[in-house]
Amino acid sequence: MKKSLQSNELTLGVCYYPEHWPEELWEDDFRRMRELNISVIRMAEFAWSIMEPEEGRFDFGFFARVLDLADRHGLQVILGTPTATPPAWLTHKYPETLNASKEGVLYRHGMRRHYNYSSPKYRELCARVVRNMVLAYKDHPAVIGWQIDNELNCEINVFYADADHAAFREWLKERYGTLEALNKAWGTVFWSQTFTDWEQVYLSRPTVNQSINPHLALDEKRFISANTISFAKLQADIIRELAPNQWITTNGMFGHLDNHEMTERLLDFYSYDSYPQFSTIFPGQDEHPLMDRAWSMNLTNVRSISPNFCIMEQQSGPGGWVDRIGMGTPRPGQIRLWTYQSVMHGADLVVYFRWRTATMGTEIYWHGINDYHNQPNRRVAEVAQIGGEFAKIGTEIAGTAYQADIAIMQDYDNNWDGELDEWHGPLGWQSMLAWFKQLQYRHIPADLVTLRPTSTLEELLPYPIIVYPHPAIMTDETAELLTRYVEQGGKLFFGARTGYKTPEGHCAMRPFPGPVAGLCGITVEDFTLVKGTTPAAELHWEGRLEAGTPAKGFNDILKVEHPDTEVIAEYASEYYRGKPALTRRAVGGGEAWYYGAAYSEPVVDAILDELGQRSPVADWLELPAEVELGIRASADASYVFLLNYAGEPAVVRAGQTVKELLSGEELEGEISIPPYGVLILQTSR
Ligand code: GAL
Repeated sequence: MKKSLQSNELTLGVCYYPEHWPEELWEDDFRRMRELNISVIRMAEFAWSIMEPEEGRFDFGFFARVLDLADRHGLQVILGTPTATPPAWLTHKYPETLNASKEGVLYRHGMRRHYNYSSPKYRELCARVVRNMVLAYKDHPAVIGWQIDNELNCEINVFYADADHAAFREWLKERYGTLEALNKAWGTVFWSQTFTDWEQVYLSRPTVNQSINPHLALDEKRFISANTISFAKLQADIIRELAPNQWITTNGMFGHLDNHEMTERLLDFYSYDSYPQFSTIFPGQDEHPLMDRAWSMNLTNVRSISPNFCIMEQQSGPGGWVDRIGMGTPRPGQIRLWTYQSVMHGADLVVYFRWRTATMGTEIYWHGINDYHNQPNRRVAEVAQIGGEFAKIGTEIAGTAYQADIAIMQDYDNNWDGELDEWHGPLGWQSMLAWFKQLQYRHIPADLVTLRPTSTLEELLPYPIIVYPHPAIMTDETAELLTRYVEQGGKLFFGARTGYKTPEGHCAMRPFPGPVAGLCGITVEDFTLVKGTTPAAELHWEGRLEAGTPAKGFNDILKVEHPDTEVIAEYASEYYRGKPALTRRAVGGGEAWYYGAAYSEPVVDAILDELGQRSPVADWLELPAEVELGIRASADASYVFLLNYAGEPAVVRAGQTVKELLSGEELEGEISIPPYGVLILQTSR
């Protein structure tokens, strides 16, 4: 059972940094928050030097005053543990707590997240400040829950301090038992890398050409994830012990961390920080980037951890640091649009970042709801509107769940292995985006599923279609699970480079696609990376694809091995012209598909046509491509969210009378959604 935020209403909150402002302002701030229907604040997550101004001397008076005042104003409080920002006294006295670059150069005081998870001293000091903090505040009536640290693995997700190398060795001893087993797993016989003493083993260090043993590189990421979780556990255990009735979460989704495992083991639910403008400053290289709507892919991933979650930081103004990440300002309506983007995907608690823009420090351009001048502005007015709407619709929407029939599947091992391995890594992202975009444009809601060692058939069967594009690492156990999924009616899609690697990242001595060759009824008889002057072959799929459509990224040249396997599309150029490129094999009630390349939008489009896959609202609602559809439903009601990401009105057509929840109006026929506008149509199930 996935862990979700439990809430009876949609709730608005805001990140507040009382330490950034004169105390005289707090009261007015809290009064105005309540006017906007903000009922939660998150604070204290960077305030270690206030709570422990010098080693071992604790002073919890400052936030106690804030808590008292918050409580008087009816505000509930999420407290963040301050361990993302070790104070100067700490790192000065204990430099071994600092993180280091691959070269061993320490990252010094002056930013944040400059510590490592392995230093026993850092763990000791973190445990002590967290214990004292929880003891000081746990009985305060305003406190509802705890955020551990802040954005674990943000800013940097690799750790090379001395303590990390030592902890890695211990982790490897646990995993492999003997040096012989480690040597085997890492294939160290290659290039005389064999270790004869554990002390010779390190996390990656500078090497010629920066190339490293790929099996070490994969284990390094697994170790970082385990180490991050163990650091979070230290804090979670203390909070659970002392404050068993308050919830525990943490925010963010960053590299080298198995967030699914962390949530399952430590948290009550997962939280995420939503800044859709990141997708507009790095829009990607495809022709029609989804822009801020691409952020829905991240929210979809968050939902795969906690179906109902908290947005711990929701963008509420233009973002930017002094020296990087400058963003354009949200246009009128976009803060509201992005808030409903979060809600549509499952957020029941949305906390804005931040109440007021900081007047000093690195984030003087990361704008909050209020400007420096603290006078009324359009962002405050927009939040007031959202606050009013949450009050109106919040109890209906909270607790309902996003509905999807298609899942795109991924797993941590392949994502981590693919960071280094350019023979499969880049394909994953291309295929994922192609599927996600086409499903978005065709208004077919999709989930992301992360396949884990604990995944069960019951978790997969609700999806009639699963796309698992490039699982290079694949075990026979996984293949077995997927075979049962297909036998019981699932349609499963693979892409190039499936099933050729072992969990250690070795290439298996068996025909591709290894464990699923039988399921797909094919083998790969030849293959080529598509790169530089090696072109992508063209595809031939009569009636479905335009002549000249390329098979992008990689070309697996397929050979049919089973009489039931149908060739759906062929390569139409290159020396392998006429050979199978896309195959389908009916197995039990389902189908196993194999595509020899990275999925692209035209190919996904053709497949969806072939499957006859339609939007769940197709019978009664016509939607233009620029509108995102999402459906949240309870046992007896469905809420159809329509989000217009465009700066012009979008016209939709409803074939039946429906109630629009935000306005309370009954609508039918042609309906215009204003620029950046939102509709929530209520239907019975
Ligand atoms: C988040 C972080 C916040 C703030 C915000 C804007 O990643 O959690 O503390 O820094 O970004 O930069």
